[in-house]
Amino acid sequence: MAVTGILLALFLIAHMLGNLKVFTGETSFDHYAHWLRDIGKPLLPGVWFLWILRTVLVVAVVAHIVAATVLARRARAARPVKYAHRKKVNGSYAARTMRWGGVIILLFVIYHLLDLTTGALNPVGDASKPYGNVVADFAPERWYVTLFYTLAILAVGFHLRHGAFSAFRSLGQQTPRGERRARTAALIFAVLLCAGYLVVPFAVLTGLVS
Ligand code: HEM
Repeated sequence: MAVTGILLALFLIAHMLGNLKVFTGETSFDHYAHWLRDIGKPLLPGVWFLWILRTVLVVAVVAHIVAATVLARRARAARPVKYAHRKKVNGSYAARTMRWGGVIILLFVIYHLLDLTTGALNPVGDASKPYGNVVADFAPERWYVTLFYTLAILAVGFHLRHGAFSAFRSLGQQTPRGERRARTAALIFAVLLCAGYLVVPFAVLTGLVS
């Protein structure tokens, strides 16, 4: 759970930082997107690096889901008889919504790939023009796309907040003071990541990026 979670979180950080290049202009953003396809050349031919990265991501997502299922089953097996009187659920909102949050994120990623990677659901949908695709996607008249992205990114934020908190606790932050520290660090991480993602669609929506 932790290893795959860390891998996915590293991807999310790198992807968010890459997206911010949209503020450096069309030429620079498109150049960056094309460079992503060239990483590893000439050692690796064609778009091999990209496909290795994609394979690692898919394996990490599948393993993350399998690990979550195994852990949930184990937790259920440890208490085969249901509580007659279920106590008020402990834990934060994020902790209680990990499963459905994960499903929403997965559905979002499928939509997102059809939108900005294959271009099938994008008004421009031209793989050679990633900047044009992003600007067309979040145009003011398509406010509902920005709304959908916002909800999905908030789901990512909640999911990451709880994931990061669990990771910090596994790393030893288990005293009351350590838990407080872990909670704060996880919150700051999730807020920064969400802000870094959300600033792009809102910059297009408000005309700052066009
Ligand atoms: C406003 C937020 C986001 C923007 C503007 C954005 C933008 C993009 C763009 C432009 C691409 C295509 C890159 C290319 O083919 O040149 C892309 C690919 C991708 N994005 Fe995002 N993204 C956002 C949020 C997310 C989030 C939250 C996730 C994960 C939960 C995510 C996961 C991916 C994945 C997996 C790919 C495919 C990478 C590949 O294999 O080519 N993105 N994104």
